Amino acid sequence: MARISYKLLPLPIFVLVVSLLFYQSAGLNSEGQYLLDIKSRIGDTYYHLSNWNPNDSTPCGWKGVDCTSDYNPVVWCLDLSSMNLSGSLSPSLGGLVHLTLLNLSFNALSQDIPGEIGSCSSLELLYLNNNHFESQIPVELAMLSCLTALNIANNRISGPFPDQIGNLSSLSLLIAYSNNITGPLPASLGNLKRLRTFRAGQNLISGSLPSEIGGCESLEYLGLAQNQLSGEIPKEIGMLQNLTDLNLLSNQISGPIPLELSNCTYLSTLALYDNKLVGPIPKELGNLECLSRLYLYRNKLNGTIPREIGNLSSALEIDFSENELTGEIPIELKNIAGLSLLYIFENKLTGVIPVELTTLENMTKLDLSTNYLTGTIPVGFQDLKRLIMLQLFDNSLSGVIPQGLGVYGKLWVVDLSNNHLTGRIPRHLCRNENLILLNMGSNNLTGYIPSGVQHCKPLVQLHLAVNGLGGSFPSDLCKLANLSSLELDQNTFTGPIPPEIGQCHALQRLHLSGNYFTGELPKEIGKLSQLVFFNVSTNSLTGVIPAEIFSCRMLQRLDLTRNHFVGALPGEIGALSQLEILKLSENQLSENIPVEVGKLSRLTDLQMGGNSFSGEIPAELGGISSLQIALNLSYNNLTGPIPAELGNLVLLEFLLLNDNHLSGEIPGAFDKLSSLLGCNFSNNDLTGPLPSLPLFQKTSISSFLGNKGLCGGPLGNCNESPQLSSHPSDTKGTSVRLGKIIAIISAVIGGISLILIIVIIHFMTRPVDMVAPLQDKPPSSLVSDIYFSPKDGFTFQDLVVATENFDDSFILGRGACGTVYKAVLRCGQYAYTMKVTEKCDIYSYGVVLLELLTGRAPVQPLDQGGDLVSWVRSYIQAHSLSPGMLDERINLQDQNTIPHMITAMKIALLCTSMSPHDRPTMQEVVLMLIESNKLEGHFDSSSFSSSSSSHHANSSDELIINV
Ligand SMILES: *[C@@H]1O[C@H](CO)[C@@H](O)[C@H](O)[C@H]1NC(C)=O
Ligand SMILES: *[C@@H]1O[C@H](CO)[C@@H](O)[C@H](O)[C@H]1NC(C)=O
Ligand SMILES: *[C@@H]1O[C@H](CO)[C@@H](O)[C@H](O)[C@H]1NC(C)=O
Ligand SMILES: *[C@@H]1O[C@H](CO)[C@@H](O)[C@H](O)[C@H]1NC(C)=O
Repeated sequence: MARISYKLLPLPIFVLVVSLLFYQSAGLNSEGQYLLDIKSRIGDTYYHLSNWNPNDSTPCGWKGVDCTSDYNPVVWCLDLSSMNLSGSLSPSLGGLVHLTLLNLSFNALSQDIPGEIGSCSSLELLYLNNNHFESQIPVELAMLSCLTALNIANNRISGPFPDQIGNLSSLSLLIAYSNNITGPLPASLGNLKRLRTFRAGQNLISGSLPSEIGGCESLEYLGLAQNQLSGEIPKEIGMLQNLTDLNLLSNQISGPIPLELSNCTYLSTLALYDNKLVGPIPKELGNLECLSRLYLYRNKLNGTIPREIGNLSSALEIDFSENELTGEIPIELKNIAGLSLLYIFENKLTGVIPVELTTLENMTKLDLSTNYLTGTIPVGFQDLKRLIMLQLFDNSLSGVIPQGLGVYGKLWVVDLSNNHLTGRIPRHLCRNENLILLNMGSNNLTGYIPSGVQHCKPLVQLHLAVNGLGGSFPSDLCKLANLSSLELDQNTFTGPIPPEIGQCHALQRLHLSGNYFTGELPKEIGKLSQLVFFNVSTNSLTGVIPAEIFSCRMLQRLDLTRNHFVGALPGEIGALSQLEILKLSENQLSENIPVEVGKLSRLTDLQMGGNSFSGEIPAELGGISSLQIALNLSYNNLTGPIPAELGNLVLLEFLLLNDNHLSGEIPGAFDKLSSLLGCNFSNNDLTGPLPSLPLFQKTSISSFLGNKGLCGGPLGNCNESPQLSSHPSDTKGTSVRLGKIIAIISAVIGGISLILIIVIIHFMTRPVDMVAPLQDKPPSSLVSDIYFSPKDGFTFQDLVVATENFDDSFILGRGACGTVYKAVLRCGQYAYTMKVTEKCDIYSYGVVLLELLTGRAPVQPLDQGGDLVSWVRSYIQAHSLSPGMLDERINLQDQNTIPHMITAMKIALLCTSMSPHDRPTMQEVVLMLIESNKLEGHFDSSSFSSSSSSHHANSSDELIINV
């Protein structure tokens, strides 16, 4: 009955078999006994196996069991898939020697795959995918010479592929993605002459792709995405005559793209993005007549785009972005009639946008941003009926924008910012009611905001800053329910800001500075309950600051600088508890500074200079312990003593009290202002000795001149006759210089928010960042402790928090062409632009990182290099990369902290390389930071990859790149 050849069985099975035979119940055959033993180790919560009755004589009627219909039936199929089974897999499995199919997929089985499976010598189809199997792939598996399909994907299998895998001579399908498989791929893989599909993405496979892979002559699908493969792509890949899909994305593969790939004439998808490939795009790729998707982005490819790419007659999507490509965009691209996506952003392309591209009628997404393109935007783009995304920002394009843009296409995202475009904003951009983002900032546009844009219902973000646009405030915009960011700054808008502004309920960011707005600020502004950022500086606004503005409780940045506001600053200001930056300088505000300002516990920058504030400086200002950037009360009518409490502002970098009528001494408590980088006390009525703070001793004399009787430090010994009090000082020069420094600091801080916005953007501009096994998103465990005591600015963690680990709920819109996320960061910046980073911003990011790590300000004393980057570099020259330069306030006792910070320091140094070309991209920085965190064992990489994988933009026909 039991037709087991005992000699073939490993010892444990033999023992088991014997013992099972021993207590065999009356009727049940041995295969039934094995199955009962398998059942005994399985948790079967839903009683799927309840009809596995020990009293039956054969198991052939049991659920999931299928027998041959022979005279003497044997079990040949066991299908227990999707039964919520848990527990482990019994070695008794090895007794089912007639099994041809074993399907245990989509359960929760755990522990190891028993080596006894090697005894199931008839097995042809083995599906163990989507379980919790762990430990290594058993070597015995390689004994299954009839096996044609093996799927172990989505488990926790570790260790390498066994060398013997090459013995599976019948194998046609090998699927092992999403495990923890390590080590190099065995050369014996090349023996698998029948292998058609090999997918092992999302593992930890290292080493190079073995040249023996060329032996897998039947291979059609090769997927090894998201591993740690290095080395070059072997030219033997060209021997794979039937290859249709090659997915090697997100590895560390270097070297050139082998010309031999052009031998793979059936290749349909070639995804090599996010590697370290160098050299040119081989012109031979143009031979690939079947190629529909060509993704080479995020590598280090250089040279020109070969004309032969135009021969890719089947191409639908081509993405060469984020490389170092030079030369012009080849006009031959016009020959690819079906091309719907063309991304070449972030390269070094020159020349014009070829007019010929306008003949590509299927074009839906075109992104040529961040290159050196010149000339005009071809008019013919306006006739592309399928165009939904047009991104041409950061080039040197000139001339007028095609005025018919939007007449046909259902434009969704249009970003033409940072060019030299002239003329008017096209009227029909939103004609098809699809536009959510319009950015035409930093051009030379004139005229008005067309009515069609003002009535564009889906619009979320309208950025038209830094142009020559005019007219009155476009109040119709406030009827747009989704509008949350409006930037009209630095244009020539005139007239009042109308009460209709109150209808802009969704508005979070309103930037109107640098225009000619007049009249009073309407009290309706108080209805903007979402407002986070409000800047109307440098206009001609008059009247009092309406008390209603203090109902905007979300406000984090409020800038009313350089207007004609009069009257008192209402005490209600204290209600704006989120406020981080408050700028009221250069108005005609009067009366006392309200003590409530002292309640603004998040304030980092307080600018009130150039007004007519009178009375004493409230001692409460000394309680704003977050105040770091500046406290500027200069050029007012303040009287009385300087409160000693200001000495508590230990983070403060600039303190400007000049040109008031302050009297008494500079409080001795100012000795505690250890962060101070600059100060000005000139033109007051101060007396007495300067506090012993070293900065005071070094500061230019002009910062103290024009007082009654200050002495000490640069002013000379206090016992000598006091300095002339009414010295005609040039304090102006000093304050201008300080102003510049403050501006630089602000720019740096502004830089980081931009950069972090960019992080998201990388996840959303990609058409194909996608892995097949869309796992459930693990809980947000993105614990990043790379950043320490951030003083101001944002960390990657902030961004993760702001989007709840890029949670779907932060998706603003998901169109056919992409997913747009919104992250409201602490400063009220949003992240639904689609810009990619420029390396100059990486520099700012590096500086901020250095600030965080060293606890030092970006501006350093001249004798120490003048700036933080020089300071760190000279420190390293003198002391090497030692912990001495790290912020002393951090607990450096923790073993993990120092190596971590040193790694982050290295990254910061890379970011601040002198030559922009040496600086990494933000994407690389994020990866390095993640890597650093991983090394310290704090990072759950799977949560990252799955979160990023959910940000891809599905391409319209839903093809996704599988691992
Ligand atoms: C892979 O291994 C790491 C560390 O050993 C572990 O944290 C992670 O959960 C594993 N992944 C899977 C899919 O088992
Ligand atoms: C390649 O595919 C063709 C068509 O499916 C098939 O006839 C041929 O045998 C395959 N070549 C190899 C080496 O498997
Ligand atoms: C490319 O194909 C040709 C002809 O089919 C063959 O002779 C040559 O060996 C192939 N090259 C590689 C590298 O596979
Ligand atoms: C491409 O880069 C390599 C170094 O990575 C360099 O040797 C080569 O000259 C570059 N080619 C072009 C066309 O710039």
